[in-house]
Amino acid sequence: MRVVERINDVRSTVKEWKSQGLKVGFVPTMGYLHEGHESLIKKASEENNKVVVSIFVNPIQFGPKEDLASYPRDLKRDSEICERAGANLIFHPENEEMYFNDFSTFVDMNGLTNGLCGKSRPIHFRGVCTVVSKLFNIVAPDRAYFGEKDAQQLAVVKRMVRDLNIDVEIVGCPIVREEDGLAKSSRNTYLSEEERAAATILNKSLMLGKEEIQNGQRNSASIIKIIEDSIKSEKLARIDYVEIVDSSSLEKVEEINKSVLVAIAVFIGKTRLIDNFTYEL
Ligand code: PAF
Repeated sequence: MRVVERINDVRSTVKEWKSQGLKVGFVPTMGYLHEGHESLIKKASEENNKVVVSIFVNPIQFGPKEDLASYPRDLKRDSEICERAGANLIFHPENEEMYFNDFSTFVDMNGLTNGLCGKSRPIHFRGVCTVVSKLFNIVAPDRAYFGEKDAQQLAVVKRMVRDLNIDVEIVGCPIVREEDGLAKSSRNTYLSEEERAAATILNKSLMLGKEEIQNGQRNSASIIKIIEDSIKSEKLARIDYVEIVDSSSLEKVEEINKSVLVAIAVFIGKTRLIDNFTYEL
C-alpha cells in the first residue's frame, strides 16, 4: 500500500489500474479511522480490484466555531487500519494541494441540505459537496463508499451524483456500533469518561422510538416526544434536533406511511454526536 500526497500520483496510479481493466473502489474519509471506516474499506476491497482511501480534514466543511483545529489526526495508525482492511492507496493531501489560494468554485445544493444537520451547520454540505466532487474528479472511482451514520450526507452525495451526472456508483454501508450501542465516530474520542457513558443515551432513545413505531404508532410528533423525553433524562445531553423525515426527500413526515429516517443530533458536553435509523414500511 502506498501513501501519496499529490493529485498527479493518484491520477497516474488509477489510470494504470484502469488500463488493466481493474475496478476501483473509493472511501473518502477525514482520518482518525475506526471500525466504521474499516467496514467501508473492507466492503470496497470485496467489491473492487483496487481501493483508494482519502484522508483529508476538509477545512471548508467546518463552520467558524467548529472543531477543525482539534479534529483528531493520526496518519500512522490510519495507514495500519487501511492496509489491514485491504486498501491499495492512501491519498493524503495538504490543504494547498486541494485548494488554491484563490479557490472560488463551490458545489452547493438546495432542499436536501436545508434541514437536519444543514440547519445548524449552514456551510457544511457545500463543503462536503465541493470536496467530494473534487475527490471524484481526482480518483475517478467506479464505486464510492459512505457510512449510513451520516445519513443526510449519503442522501446529498447520491443526489449530487445524479444531478451532475457523475459516473460513480454510491454504496451506503450500515452503522457500526460499540457494544453498548454508541455509533462509532472519530468524535467519540472527545468524550470524557462521564460523557462517554452519557452518550449511550442517543441509541437508547432511538430504540425507544423504534419500539413505538413497531408497536403501531404512526404519529411523528408522539414518537419525537418519546425520543426527546428520553434524551432529556440525561443531564449531560442537549438536543440539537430530533426529526422524522422521508428517507429519500428528507422532508418532514407527520404520519408515518412510507419509509422514514429517524435522525438525531445531540450535544454531549461540547461534543455534537449524530445517530439514526431507517424504518422501512
Ligand atoms: O464523512 C466524512 O468523513 C466527510 O464528510 C467526507 C465525506 C470525507 C468529506 O470530507
